[in-house]
Amino acid sequence: MAQTVTLIPGDGTGPEVTGATREVIDALDVGIEWEEVEAGEKVIDEEGTPLPEHVLESIRRNKVAIKGPLTTPVGQGFRSVNVALRAELDLYANVRPAQSLPGIDLPFENVDIITFRENTEDLYAGIEHKIGDCAGESIKLITRKGTERICRLAFEQSKDMGRKHITVTHKANIMRETDGLFRDVFFEVAEDYENDFEEIDERIVDNMAMQLAMKPNDYDVLVCPNLYGDILSDLCAGLTGGLGVAPGANIGDEYALFEPVHGSTPKYAGQNRANPLATMLSAVSMLEYMELQKEAERMQKAIKQALKNPENRTKDLGGSAGTKEFGQAVISNLE
Ligand SMILES: NC(=O)c1ccc[n+]([C@@H]2O[C@H](COP(=O)([O-])OP(=O)(O)OC[C@H]3O[C@@H](n4cnc5c(N)ncnc54)[C@H](O)[C@@H]3O)[C@@H](O)[C@H]2O)c1
Repeated sequence: MAQTVTLIPGDGTGPEVTGATREVIDALDVGIEWEEVEAGEKVIDEEGTPLPEHVLESIRRNKVAIKGPLTTPVGQGFRSVNVALRAELDLYANVRPAQSLPGIDLPFENVDIITFRENTEDLYAGIEHKIGDCAGESIKLITRKGTERICRLAFEQSKDMGRKHITVTHKANIMRETDGLFRDVFFEVAEDYENDFEEIDERIVDNMAMQLAMKPNDYDVLVCPNLYGDILSDLCAGLTGGLGVAPGANIGDEYALFEPVHGSTPKYAGQNRANPLATMLSAVSMLEYMELQKEAERMQKAIKQALKNPENRTKDLGGSAGTKEFGQAVISNLE
């Protein structure tokens, strides 16, 4: 039976990377129908908001969505559309895998780290104000409920994936009431999973950054509050080829929204230059979420096959292929 997925092409290079991804999924012939809706900078004049209500309604109706990056206009009083989407749909888990890929020459081989980032709290809750002209204050909010659900989802998904090492990252030595709570709740949840993992441990976030830069093969799954997860997952993306190859998923109990980690890269917009790989790998996660496991594997295999030929690689990976050409290469490698 056909399933409908909401597609938000996005701003900047978004329509190009989502367009190439859509062509690959259509070629998989998996029965996905698209409901395309627009959000972001391009709709502000017409709709008066970068996040029109009908976009949220479409996602609520279809339950699953994939999006290109959305530009957050600086200094126009709009809250980040991405942050708003996650809050409106209660997409509390941001899952970001970073896996070494064929044909990308980097200092470390066989990196395979998944970051589970809490997606609705911490300094991203938007609780901030000016104090006169001379100061600003942002409140860091961490709740037991918010922490428990991200930790449980991280343990459950990691267990299902056969992962064996899970690490909580925090700065509880300084922020005892917030990061301290995150750490404590993680270990409370961990009690239910002691037999499923070989190592359940913790790292202070600054040490974690150094460890990842020096010994990434020692790590498997990271569980982090929002801000540290944002930063460390970009670090992991750097270990595997940069933002052009970093996929992401925003998961809640009712809805899921898949998107590349990168932004709208306006300087490359319309130039057939952006790497669509991050969006394609996000689509692979989407197919897995939709329990289309065989199709997910077919798509991932074709992506890896395409990457093996240097002629297919985009400029950020040292090649000369364009967004469209990479998409066509993936399609021609589909089995
Ligand atoms: N989830 C999202 O929608 C999202 C995420 C981050 C930033 N943004 C928004 O995107 C806009 C631009 O942000 P930015 O410049 O800080 O970050 P960016 O990710 O767009 O670009 C940073 C750099 O990474 C490289 N890069 C990123 N994606 C690439 C790709 N697909 N192929 C090749 N190279 C790629 C480019 O060198 C680029 O200059 C801002 O408005 C920001 O708010 C949106």
